[in-house]
Amino acid sequence: MSETDWKVFNPAGTRRVVVTKELPGGRWLELLTAAGCRVEVAQGREVLGETGVRRALGSQVDAVIGQLTEQWSEPLLRSLREAGGAIYSQYAVGFDNVDVEAATGLGLPVGNTPGVLTETTAELAVALTFAAARRIAEGDRLTRSGAYRGWLPDLLLGSLLHRGTVGVIGAGRIGTAYARMMVEGHKMDLVYYDRHGNEELERYIAEYAGFLSARGEEPVQCRRAASLGDLLGSADVVSIHATLTDETHHLIGAGELGQMKDDAVLVNASRGPLLDEAALVQHCRSHPAFRAGLDVYEREPTLAAGLEELDNVVLVPHLGSATTWTREGMATLASANVVAVLNGWPVWPAAEDVEAVLPFLDAPDPPHAAPSIVNADELGLARWTG
Ligand code: DGY
Repeated sequence: MSETDWKVFNPAGTRRVVVTKELPGGRWLELLTAAGCRVEVAQGREVLGETGVRRALGSQVDAVIGQLTEQWSEPLLRSLREAGGAIYSQYAVGFDNVDVEAATGLGLPVGNTPGVLTETTAELAVALTFAAARRIAEGDRLTRSGAYRGWLPDLLLGSLLHRGTVGVIGAGRIGTAYARMMVEGHKMDLVYYDRHGNEELERYIAEYAGFLSARGEEPVQCRRAASLGDLLGSADVVSIHATLTDETHHLIGAGELGQMKDDAVLVNASRGPLLDEAALVQHCRSHPAFRAGLDVYEREPTLAAGLEELDNVVLVPHLGSATTWTREGMATLASANVVAVLNGWPVWPAAEDVEAVLPFLDAPDPPHAAPSIVNADELGLARWTG
């Protein structure tokens, strides 16, 4: 491994941890060095390909903190295991780039970083929603270009979302947070589509509706869609928060776009391949009043041909979790997963929301547990009981 591409912390540490990108904050490094780890951190901003990762693993490694931009398929996980790796710790909540089944077969725990990015990612989806609906990027471009000649009654008219209907595909942690922001903030009715009913969300919105009624205001409505088509046809805004699997690949394609309202807003801040990007380009070309806000892409960082030319699409570079607090927290959780597995500690009972992972983020003596191991049950790892 070349010294110019890698920075080594605590060189005398007895357990070797490879970190494939520099991470924000300092706590994550303190946790690792306090646990006696020698930490080797890649310095480049380019994605490390499989060869680069394999070279970094070398013949002996105890753990890796890796990125969603790397493909952790069976051969690479096997190399990690054969080099003595005790855990692959993903610096993200999503792990569709990791063959978890293969990892489980190899007896390798896979860590991830839930909780700290729920509200942050939901906020980005809200930002994209309004950027698309209110044509913020177009307005910014026009203003900078010098073409703004003064207020006009018909300049860049967008859509009012207040009291409209928001459709959420995937009512998990982030989808739920987004739904609540849109319902509570903008008094939108909610229709959600999910394999499972989300009773807690429905109850919450029913209570909010009761609060509005008690104030003499029109209550908001919430219902679970009977089908994806039901949601698409009735929502003014559709936001995708589903997990990427073989079944959800291209969940939204030409047929589904055609079922949406002509002036609807579509947002994707989950994973690019959920949406057929080429179909979206065609749809936006033929439906100028339709708008989309994208944070993720089918073949990141490459965009589908023609996407960048469309004025009715707002594009940002996978920024869902990009706040300082969240990215530092993700680093802390990723290293806490490593420390726990290397020390043989149990797995935290649940990392459902931010409250559940807060003890790891700033407590002077964080719990002796791994915050989140996605295949903990399959591997029969013990759960922390206090
Ligand atoms: C994740 O964690 O899965 C996001 O996509 C990156 O923050």
